[in-house]
Amino acid sequence: MKNILVTGGAGFIGSAFVRYMVETYPEYNIIVLDKMTYAGNIDNLLPVHDEPNYRFEKGDIADEQTVERVFLEHHIDTVVNFAAESHVDRSILNPHAFVQTDVVGVYILLEACRKLGVQRFHHVSTDEVYGSIPKGFFKEGDPLEPNSPYAASKAGGELMVRAYWVTYGLHTTVTRGSNTFGPYQYPEKVAPFFITEAIDNRPLPLYGDGMQVRDWLYVDDHCKAIDVVLHRGEAGEIYNVGGENERHNIDVTKLILQYLGKSESLIKHVADRPGHDRRYALTNDKLRADFDWAPSTHFETALQATVTWYVKNEWWWRKLKSGEYLEYYKKQYAERLANAD
Ligand code: NAD
Ligand code: TYD
Repeated sequence: MKNILVTGGAGFIGSAFVRYMVETYPEYNIIVLDKMTYAGNIDNLLPVHDEPNYRFEKGDIADEQTVERVFLEHHIDTVVNFAAESHVDRSILNPHAFVQTDVVGVYILLEACRKLGVQRFHHVSTDEVYGSIPKGFFKEGDPLEPNSPYAASKAGGELMVRAYWVTYGLHTTVTRGSNTFGPYQYPEKVAPFFITEAIDNRPLPLYGDGMQVRDWLYVDDHCKAIDVVLHRGEAGEIYNVGGENERHNIDVTKLILQYLGKSESLIKHVADRPGHDRRYALTNDKLRADFDWAPSTHFETALQATVTWYVKNEWWWRKLKSGEYLEYYKKQYAERLANAD
């Protein structure tokens, strides 16, 4: 492994992974390929901008010519694929881009690996491919029952990864991470959205009763798990990456308000997300048994530090809340908030 292509490296988790890899492995060259959608942000990569082992390429993983050029020019031997349309609510409003990037894009990357002899492919997937689980924990062999267009697209991409291992012997691995949070997360996902809205004393639109459960994983833990699987994962294998922090949405929301010293009256119960998964939970038993890996972050401490990061870094998120973001906000929330309890 020497020249690692990180697709989607200008997004939230991808950029954290790039910052981590550039610093941890000066002997590797880290090349980012990112389409720079609304979620791609070059500011996320400012900390590595001048590092000699970092390069940036703007381009679409679903564009065969671009992918092949980047593979050849940078002598890519390893791909870590973060590139995706990643927000469930946007997938409900408009699924097209999800199928295009999360399924077709993955296929184009895999095919370029096959054609150009790239032997290592790590795919970043999500616990959402399993669907919802009322009690207990998903394990890697469980059936996939994705419920949103986002989750279904991620499942489709993953299955194509599996086919390239089984059919062509490409050395693939997959991680299924749980809900990830931390600095530099685009303010549409619930944590940064609620933090930044609460800073401005704006209403927090909590879907339904707020009793849905998510398993929260700190972004640094997620990146370290991917590093472990990239270096030690077995070909064709899938690994859950859970945070081991199950929380009800309402409790996460109240913690955010508490850390900001804001009133719970900002919480507005609004119309639920269609097809809303009630609970996500997965076991880390396989990562623990195979690599002795477990998440190392205390949830409340990390959430508080994340809140502090957004308070201190208004320069980063304020400019994101304009233009297309406001259009999306209107579509997603205007009617819901107007009809809130
Ligand atoms: P993000 O939306 O913050 O970033 C996605 C990045 O991919 C952006 O930089 C965007 O410009 C880029 N991109 C989108 N389409 C592209 C294309 N066609 N070609 C090249 N680049 C493209 O997402 P994130 O939260 O950082 O998630 C990264 C990966 O992790 C995704 O694959 C997602 O499914 C997965 N994941 C996310 C979470 C989470 O809680 N955020 C949890 C588990 C897994
Ligand atoms: P989100 O951050 O969109 O992640 P995911 O849907 O991938 O789990 O949402 C996390 C939880 O928060 C989910 O149960 C939906 C809920 N949520 C709200 O209640 N209101 C919101 O405005 C958003 C964005 C999410």
